[in-house]
Amino acid sequence: MSKQFDVIVIGGGPGGYIAAIRAAQLGKNVACVDEWKNAKGGPAPGGTCTNVGCIPSKALLQSSEHFEQASHHFADHGITVKGLSMDPAKMVARKDTVVKQNNDGILYLFKKNKVSFFHGRASFVKAVDAGYEIKVAGAAEETLVGQQIIVATGSNARALPGAAFDETMVLSNEGALALTAVPKKMGLIGSGVIGLEMGSVWRRLGSEVTILEGLPDFLGAVDQQIAKEAHKAFVKQGLKIELGVKVGDIKVGKKGVSVAWTNAKGEAQTLDVDKLIVSIGRVPNTIGLNAEAVGLKLDERGAIVVDGDCKTNLPGVWAVGDVVRGPMLAHKAEEEGVAVAERIAGQHGHVNFNTIPWVIYTSPEIAWVGRTEQQLKSDGVAYKAGTFPFLANGRARALGDTTGMVKMLADATTDEILGVHIVGPMASELIAECVLAMEFRASSEDIARVCHAHPSLSESTKEAALAVDKRTLNF
Ligand code: NAI
Repeated sequence: MSKQFDVIVIGGGPGGYIAAIRAAQLGKNVACVDEWKNAKGGPAPGGTCTNVGCIPSKALLQSSEHFEQASHHFADHGITVKGLSMDPAKMVARKDTVVKQNNDGILYLFKKNKVSFFHGRASFVKAVDAGYEIKVAGAAEETLVGQQIIVATGSNARALPGAAFDETMVLSNEGALALTAVPKKMGLIGSGVIGLEMGSVWRRLGSEVTILEGLPDFLGAVDQQIAKEAHKAFVKQGLKIELGVKVGDIKVGKKGVSVAWTNAKGEAQTLDVDKLIVSIGRVPNTIGLNAEAVGLKLDERGAIVVDGDCKTNLPGVWAVGDVVRGPMLAHKAEEEGVAVAERIAGQHGHVNFNTIPWVIYTSPEIAWVGRTEQQLKSDGVAYKAGTFPFLANGRARALGDTTGMVKMLADATTDEILGVHIVGPMASELIAECVLAMEFRASSEDIARVCHAHPSLSESTKEAALAVDKRTLNF
């Protein structure tokens, strides 16, 4: 006998588990199927984000930043450290504990919201009168029938042709987060979000890190004034970043990896490293979903084709997160998951794709929302720009971290905020105010007139807003 549900969510990452909880809150009888296993073979819901992405990378970034501070910056505060050492295996074990707390948190939330959880891989069997038949294979062997299906199967790391991930020498995000010794030389291909975050972790712990990036511009999608400031800071810290490169043959040996590459001038080079991380983007994951059994339409990249409301070509089948178009970000997936659950319940869920924040958790952090200066120029929009450096912010000076700036872009006529770009301390937290302002279609004048606590980094956002009208008070 198959078990019948109003909604079956396939995938328990941020898109899936949040969709399941929201649908259950709205009175639906919900199942969520997720196959991720922890080291003991038990369930580990939370997807890439929780297991091998956002959460573990932030744990390692925090540990390595503590080490960097103790090694290089405590002395400025009059703190002397003798015999400082680092135990990478313990750092990774702490990271694993943080991950487990998050896995367990999701299982608790399922119980609390009466979501039925199945540990295994879900695949489509066929369309039936009551919806779709879904087979679960793995720890739980079941046949489920769901009236509505939400596919939230995420993405996988994209491999470089000729250099398959072995997670020992050639690492994806998974291997990069599990190293228990510091490689002397580390190479990374791709200076995107993962390249910069993982490169930072291992450089802080003592690796000599070289990043090979195919594009001629550093962080091409980021506001270029902000990207240049970040590039300067990373190079000063000791990251070697080569832009405009062409990667050739990769030879993997027992002791190291040799990468043949050509620099921007066309000169042949070789990079010999102990470990190589390939971080050149991710591909949508529909492996084993058996999409063809029901005629679920995929595009040429393997992404599930959806409309603006996350509806697929099949009635009652929805898809959210990394497996569909749009940025591969946990919070974008969550928003889509909530909106789909609400649409299923007859409500009017909505996702504003123009106000999705981006964050790179390096030091300095980089965060932005809305359009960059280069986008506004190419869109032919008349704008005003205001910048404020953290160098002129009292809290940043007291923290001892004055790198970077806040940059605000507002419409030249209406003053509506069109984008905010931050490089500097706690940019990840500061961006929330800017997202809120844009969501409410605030003007730069609105931010300029809001009382911000003193001393706080957030005063830099207010000052950047004042700078749009050329009336900064502290610079
Ligand atoms: P990415 O898209 O951020 O960066 C990939 C980089 O590799 C680009 O700069 C690209 O030009 C370069 N590249 C591509 N092919 C290349 C080649 N053959 N040779 C040299 N360079 C090449 O992708 P990444 O860093 O792998 O991250 C994957 C996804 O995970 C992203 O969509 C990202 O949004 C997400 N993520 C988000 C985080 C966050 O929000 N803080 C943290 C980590 C990942």
